[in-house]
Amino acid sequence: MSRYAHIIGWGHAVPDQVLTNDDLAQRVDTSDEWIRTRTGIRERRIAAPGEYTSTLATRAATEALRMAGVHPREVDLIVVATNTPDYIFPATAALVQDALGAGRAGAFDLQAACTGFVYALTIAADMIKAGGIDTALVIGAETLSRIVDWEDRNTCVLFGDAAGAFVLQAADEPGGVLTSVLHADGSGAELLMLPTCGTRNPVSHKALDQRMQYMKMNGREVFRFATRVMNSATREVVEKAGLTLDDIAWIAPHQANRRIIEAAAKALKRPMDDFLLNLDRYGNTSTASIPLAIYEAAQAGRIQPGQYGVLVAFGAGLIWGATLVQWTGPRPVAKPPRVRWHRRLAQVGSWLRRARRHLEGRLVRGG
Ligand code: COA
Repeated sequence: MSRYAHIIGWGHAVPDQVLTNDDLAQRVDTSDEWIRTRTGIRERRIAAPGEYTSTLATRAATEALRMAGVHPREVDLIVVATNTPDYIFPATAALVQDALGAGRAGAFDLQAACTGFVYALTIAADMIKAGGIDTALVIGAETLSRIVDWEDRNTCVLFGDAAGAFVLQAADEPGGVLTSVLHADGSGAELLMLPTCGTRNPVSHKALDQRMQYMKMNGREVFRFATRVMNSATREVVEKAGLTLDDIAWIAPHQANRRIIEAAAKALKRPMDDFLLNLDRYGNTSTASIPLAIYEAAQAGRIQPGQYGVLVAFGAGLIWGATLVQWTGPRPVAKPPRVRWHRRLAQVGSWLRRARRHLEGRLVRGG
């Protein structure tokens, strides 16, 4: 019997602080009019001090698990797609695993730039379908405000902070994450990158003087690439699923620029109403943009169980891809009362492990 990977819960997290286009015009030579007409963005959210990719991811995951009626200890795998991990290592997914008390879960980060959520969803769903795991948390989370150059008007107006999460679970009935297409062309690596903080250009005074710790982008070339692949990847995934574009009820595009999405709509001969959009309020939140757009649409009743939808993304790498889903909707799972005890126990276990590590550290240091 075939196994399917259903999306049974979804969650989100956005920082409270709103940064409007007018606010930005106080910092760099830009205007609300320029940003709105060239990108469609009106405002974005900015993480507060003490708010990190892992904390946003944990909040989104907690909401998704609650909706799904899934206890953290039932989770087999946590994948965090991100370009802005808390650290190069350890993985942000491990920090999320600890914060959730997901004691049985494996955890890893996935780096496929803004296409990360599509890649992570594909991998987790395929592991479920293969029978290796039953339940997965797939999270896209970013604090891009920490790697944006606030002196560069070409990039700082585009990005924002957010997280979105899906709970995937195995089921026999057809539906959920059906199929994907994944692509890459590393010859375009220099079009969008963060030059330092990795091992090729380690952090140094010289690198910092050249502001290499911030994102660099060739906007025009990325724009050209994006408009091409949004169309081709959507068509390819629909064909791979044995469907036609007429079967697709909605498209959740990576939210980078409204004009990119308008070009895709034109090429696909679909009205803009078919696209789930929220980039006017959040800007480009990279791996979080697709789950956040789907979250809002699902909460508003805009997407319904049984409908086919396409998630399509592009980004640095260059990497792009698309996933076709048949929307399931949350399962009516009654939460057993023991769940609260399990959560408490998991929390206590996590505190004890931390205390032990702290004490061991003091012993080693002779403190
Ligand atoms: N405010 C005012 N002027 C700005 C500006 C800003 N925030 N940013 C750039 N400009 C200026 C440029 O300096 C340029 O001036 P110049 O002609 O004197 O050199 C002019 O506006 C036009 O620049 P151009 O690059 O042609 O604008 P554009 O219409 O292509 O829009 C982007 C620029 C970045 C919005 C657009 O190219 C884009 O969205 N690219 C894709 C980026 C993306 O999606 N990145 C993430 C991928 S995941």
